[in-house]
Amino acid sequence: MTTTSPDHVPADHDLSGVSLDERIGLLSGADYWNTRAVPAAGIPALMLSDGPHGIRAQYEGGDNLGLAASVASTCFPTAVTLAASWSPELVREVGAAVGAEARALGVDVVLGPGLNLKRHPFCGRNFEYYSEDPLVSGLLAAAAVEGIQSQGAGACVKHFAVNNQEGYRYTVDAIVDERTLRELYLRGFERAVRAAAPATVMAAYNLINGEHATDSHRLLSTILRDEWGFDGVVMSDWGAEADRVAGVAAGMDLEMPGGADTSGDVRAAHDSGLLTAEQIATAAGRVAALSRRLERARATVPASTMDALLEPHDALARRAAAQSTVVLRNEADVLPLTPGARIALIGAFADTPRYQGSGSSLVTPTRLTTALEALRDAGFDVTSSPGYEPERSGDDPALIAAAVEVARGAETAVVMVGLPPIAESEGFDRETLALPPQHDALVRAVAAVAQRTVVVLSLGSAVQLPWRDEVDAILVTHLGGQASGGAVADVLLGTVEPAGRLTETWFASVDDIAATPFFPGTPHQVQYREGVFVGYRHATTAGVAVPYPFGAGLGYGRTRWSDASLSGTTIAIGGRVTVSVAVENVGPRPTTELVQVYLHDTTGVVLRPRRELVGFARATLAPGERRVVEVPVAADDLRFWDVRSNSWQLPTGQAALEVARDAATVEAVLPVVLEGTVIDSAEPPASEAIAVSDAAFERRLGRSIPGEPARRPYTRDTTLAVLRRTLAGKLLWLGIRSAAKKAEDAFSDEVSRAMYERTVQEMPIRGLAQLTSGQVSWGTVDAVVALANRRPFAALRHALRRPPR
Ligand code: BGC
Repeated sequence: MTTTSPDHVPADHDLSGVSLDERIGLLSGADYWNTRAVPAAGIPALMLSDGPHGIRAQYEGGDNLGLAASVASTCFPTAVTLAASWSPELVREVGAAVGAEARALGVDVVLGPGLNLKRHPFCGRNFEYYSEDPLVSGLLAAAAVEGIQSQGAGACVKHFAVNNQEGYRYTVDAIVDERTLRELYLRGFERAVRAAAPATVMAAYNLINGEHATDSHRLLSTILRDEWGFDGVVMSDWGAEADRVAGVAAGMDLEMPGGADTSGDVRAAHDSGLLTAEQIATAAGRVAALSRRLERARATVPASTMDALLEPHDALARRAAAQSTVVLRNEADVLPLTPGARIALIGAFADTPRYQGSGSSLVTPTRLTTALEALRDAGFDVTSSPGYEPERSGDDPALIAAAVEVARGAETAVVMVGLPPIAESEGFDRETLALPPQHDALVRAVAAVAQRTVVVLSLGSAVQLPWRDEVDAILVTHLGGQASGGAVADVLLGTVEPAGRLTETWFASVDDIAATPFFPGTPHQVQYREGVFVGYRHATTAGVAVPYPFGAGLGYGRTRWSDASLSGTTIAIGGRVTVSVAVENVGPRPTTELVQVYLHDTTGVVLRPRRELVGFARATLAPGERRVVEVPVAADDLRFWDVRSNSWQLPTGQAALEVARDAATVEAVLPVVLEGTVIDSAEPPASEAIAVSDAAFERRLGRSIPGEPARRPYTRDTTLAVLRRTLAGKLLWLGIRSAAKKAEDAFSDEVSRAMYERTVQEMPIRGLAQLTSGQVSWGTVDAVVALANRRPFAALRHALRRPPR
């Protein structure tokens, strides 16, 4: 821990000459995107910008929902897309490119990567996250951090932690047992923090087991700093800080955005002894250290101009998107297509691409290549038809009929469908696994008349494909960034091998997902009753057959695997083994294969998922080439979280490592003995996989399930939707309605309007002070709350309160 005693303060943290008020000032932003400077003490201001797949720099004003304009930057493929490459090298390369653009645009900290676990495919923000598996998420996030920071910019891993849904994100309390928390929801963060030392971590909006993430000393200090060794700055998500004084005490150094002045609260807490000068100095010292370190880092890595980066980064975005494309089906090797082939290109996404998601990550691209242009440029003879309206994709039989005419008799129809922007976004969750009915109907209608049908999917998360056996090929491009159109052409032509593999399970039905009955909960509580049984962990344990398992993807190649072996027959605590398997390319093209290794723990110490990913490796092979692929597996990654000793433990006993193509396709089983701690059983005998009954959930939590919070008295945390039921809330609404309406009308598109509307309803009332750059004062917020509580005199006192210095 950083000590603040004058003799031991590291130079970067040194606050000599910085007054108490200046120290307090460092604990919140200067405005929407900048931190405060103390020039006399050599503490520069920092500019922070989203993130993660491109830079969303706003130099004047700003908003955190992606609504107002930002300067152009390369829109790289989103996290879901890049994750499908399973390539830390590629993620690092893109991270470095994002870092270079940050530098070129004067941005010091990139607000990414996001690595929340995909608990459920409905989370509206899954496109910004990597995986349902913490090993994949953690490794890729670490690579992104390394890439960004290699350019002298700082990264920010977010949203710490358990922010796995958009609905109720500002108020929901995630009730999750310790083992699940450690093994799934914290594990990716732990890996990224330990491996890549991110400059900053962003504390999430939600609560975890009754505590706001922003105010949790256990999360932000005990776990993050003391256990994992994090030595950077924790900042709040925008408007997430629930109680600034509690936040400072917890280790939440920097409140963002600035504008809502909480320095008066911190000063008062200091004066009354609630916060010590040392606590303030510790947090301020960390902010000072970050500013100084980044200033130094900038000096060591030369910055480029955006002009110099445009071409190479557009090319990188294209290569990354193509390489990350997942082939789910390719009957009779219909793909790649013959150069110059005649194709019927169906689907509005061909001309109006769906290439990124809405919200804070929305980037203004430097250019945009559509699939229509790129396929024509690549020499295909293309006729096209939209088939649906791209924004909402409501039912429209006439558009299908027109598309069918274009596709009729076509040798190859390429149908681009997926999720329209309104279906998935920051700010709200999906409600169905299905594609819009218009898209399903279009695919079926085209497949019925075309000789061969190739479906190209643009979307940010898993969906159902009811027509999957009626088409010849299926490509998943996810949300491939500004060059995704070019990437589609490269993949259809086969100039780039589509080497992607899914990093989340595509279930046949939402009822097959263990978390479904418990997602998204109520505005104030979501119970993680499925425990560790998320995604493939559930599918493999419960024997749920899925159309496209975690890890699935065909590429264009064909490989034969043989001679799987282990470097040793035992694994001891702290040790490692190497899994080897010979992979032979038996197809006519170069190909990239992914070897996955799963643990099957049969020690019986604790109820574990049937399969848990413990390692993977990629290999690119020339036709006819045979190579031994090695996958190192560390004993540390075979551990479980033992709730009795409150620590990671390697069990003792027989287990197996499974060498697999995906979570459902095992090529070889390698027995191994785990030589860990001798534990009889770390669990009560009746432990169930999914805690359906309250009693089972309480056993797992080790306490009773908390009740919903009392609605009254109203507090700063009460949402506007609830307050509007009171007279005070109605009055407030009258006061701000026209401003809110004006803001809403300013958004040109429906998704932004939907997101804004949800935000206004679901945000705690404190957000009015926190997210309006000081336009609404804390006095006003507190007055409304007091009035709603029928305390008119207190309300008057608050209304007349002078803003803090
Ligand atoms: C998002 C963050 C983002 C921040 C700033 C928040 O609403 O949750 O991911 O970095 O806004 O735009």
